[in-house]
Amino acid sequence: MTAMDAHNAASTPPLSRRTERVAGSLIREILKVTQRLEVISFAGGLPADDLMPKLDFAALHGDPRQYGASEGEQPLREAVAARLAGLGLACDAEQVLITSGSQQGIDLVGKLFIDEGSPVLLEAPSYLAAIQAFRVYGAEFHGLRLSEDGIDPEALRQAIARRRPAFVYLIPTFQNPTGYCYSEANRRAVAAVLDEAGVPLVEDDPYRDLAYGPAERTPICAYLRRAPWVYLGSFSKITAPGLRIGYLAASPALFPWLLRLKQASDLHSNRISQAWLARFLEGEAFERHLANLAGVYAERRDTMQASLQRHFSGLAQWRLPDGGLFFWLRLSGECDTLAALQIALASNIAFMPGDPFFPLAEQRYPALRLNFSHAAPADIERGVARLAQVLGECIEPGRLTPGLAA
Ligand SMILES: Cc1ncc(COP(=O)(O)O)c(C=O)c1O
Repeated sequence: MTAMDAHNAASTPPLSRRTERVAGSLIREILKVTQRLEVISFAGGLPADDLMPKLDFAALHGDPRQYGASEGEQPLREAVAARLAGLGLACDAEQVLITSGSQQGIDLVGKLFIDEGSPVLLEAPSYLAAIQAFRVYGAEFHGLRLSEDGIDPEALRQAIARRRPAFVYLIPTFQNPTGYCYSEANRRAVAAVLDEAGVPLVEDDPYRDLAYGPAERTPICAYLRRAPWVYLGSFSKITAPGLRIGYLAASPALFPWLLRLKQASDLHSNRISQAWLARFLEGEAFERHLANLAGVYAERRDTMQASLQRHFSGLAQWRLPDGGLFFWLRLSGECDTLAALQIALASNIAFMPGDPFFPLAEQRYPALRLNFSHAAPADIERGVARLAQVLGECIEPGRLTPGLAA
């Protein structure tokens, strides 16, 4: 026990009931380890360090040092609204709220919709930090099985009929952790079910610009006619996560509530980051930057695919992702992936165990997520080879739970 732990144990005053639901974050713990230079990290969804744009704050328009509007800087809101309109999501700049990362959008949505015991429908597996954020507010999860095409609209209809959820949270484009991308038919069918039921959709879309081939990417929100919606976007993966700039757009009835919750949370997002970003989006440099990112990440994805084919063929099944930053490996037998992680870390390799991505324990299957954007290509081959040795010793062949085999 550290001195800090001992002090905390002795002096913690009564805390809110909410804190009982705050688990330690595995990702935070792993990220701490991966900051050691010798570690090859496939764990976080980090952009490549050398591909992040240079930041020059010297020549910004106006003076961003003063307090600003909770909604966000108007030029940035307008640039976001124009980009969304280009995706088919007709939306006014007045419906755009600039957030401190899209993670804040996730948290605001939790605050807006969730009371203790509120049902929330989401993919199984889903983004672990959204699960964590919604859990703090007392969400009761119902996980929808996810396939390469998306979720089953009929299963969605039945789940809504069984217990009406506060909202449905989906990541239809290059999903985290699986990389799956819903087909157009599936997007339309999901929108139809939500419209019929009038259940709000929260669509999280931080990976859409990282596409490595043709893929259907129209937001499901664009197909909605009646259901309320919140669309979450992020600049973290396509510029620099340290800027902490994301955004949400919402249907008119929801927007004023989200704005008030944002104001109560942090008054406004970083104005210096917003001013830099608004200028970066204006020029052609941004589109060139996106094309370059997609080119380099596609190469790294292909490097990882080749390494996986060399070393993992008997150990796991996976699909080549058409976009995003991750491979999702479904292991060929039972495996304590948390124990495997400790062994891998001792060899300076980091990955994300699959367990925390499942909202409910009973829907888990043995899996892991590997990021391919951050490690250099030579490290990808070395790291995958070493990881295969570790997992080869941890996977128990033939002990896969019946019914869960891929
Ligand atoms: C699905 C998803 N949503 C939201 C986020 C949060 O991104 P940020 O807060 O950096 O915008 C991430 C980050 O990995 C993500 O994968």
